[in-house]
Amino acid sequence: MSSVLKELHREHRKTARLLDLLERQAGRLEGCTAAELTQLRQLIQYFGFYRERVHHKKEDIVFTYLQRRCPDSMELIHNLQAEHALLNDMMARFATLIEKVGSDTLVDKQIIQVEVSEFVTVSRAHMTREELNLFRLAADELSEQDWLQISREISCQVDTVKLQEMAREGGQLYEDIVAFDSLFGTESDGLLH
Ligand SMILES: [Fe+2]
Ligand SMILES: [Fe+2]
Repeated sequence: MSSVLKELHREHRKTARLLDLLERQAGRLEGCTAAELTQLRQLIQYFGFYRERVHHKKEDIVFTYLQRRCPDSMELIHNLQAEHALLNDMMARFATLIEKVGSDTLVDKQIIQVEVSEFVTVSRAHMTREELNLFRLAADELSEQDWLQISREISCQVDTVKLQEMAREGGQLYEDIVAFDSLFGTESDGLLH
């Protein structure tokens, strides 16, 4: 399997942990402290950047090559890209609501929890579809030369420096992510095996 696919798969595992964390934090929104609220906002900021500017960007590059090699995959790719846009919109919507918590504006925390829960459900289903359909197809259809060019494009286009900075600035949030990593560190590599 190409190193890019392994990386995308690792990112899915990390995303699954971040979704667990997001779900847990949003579930404790009622009566949360100012520090917990800050942590939740940091999580959303980190997660939003990570998915949109790192993970989805890498996938979009793979999608472009796969469409060329396998025109039959067009509809599947189109649906997955539409879900990327949908997930970005969903996240932006509840991020805006969470920003208002603690301000003078009255916000129904149950609505936020419902929105987060829908986002988590759609995200998990999206990743499963990618693992089962798209990643397997890409592994079968793309050549070594394709993967080489994909790797080059990813290193030119993906802003990992900013991501590392955000992780460093995350403080307690980052410690929680690391704690989740150690909790789930021994789990199987999952669907691609
Ligand atoms: Fe995706
Ligand atoms: Fe993905």
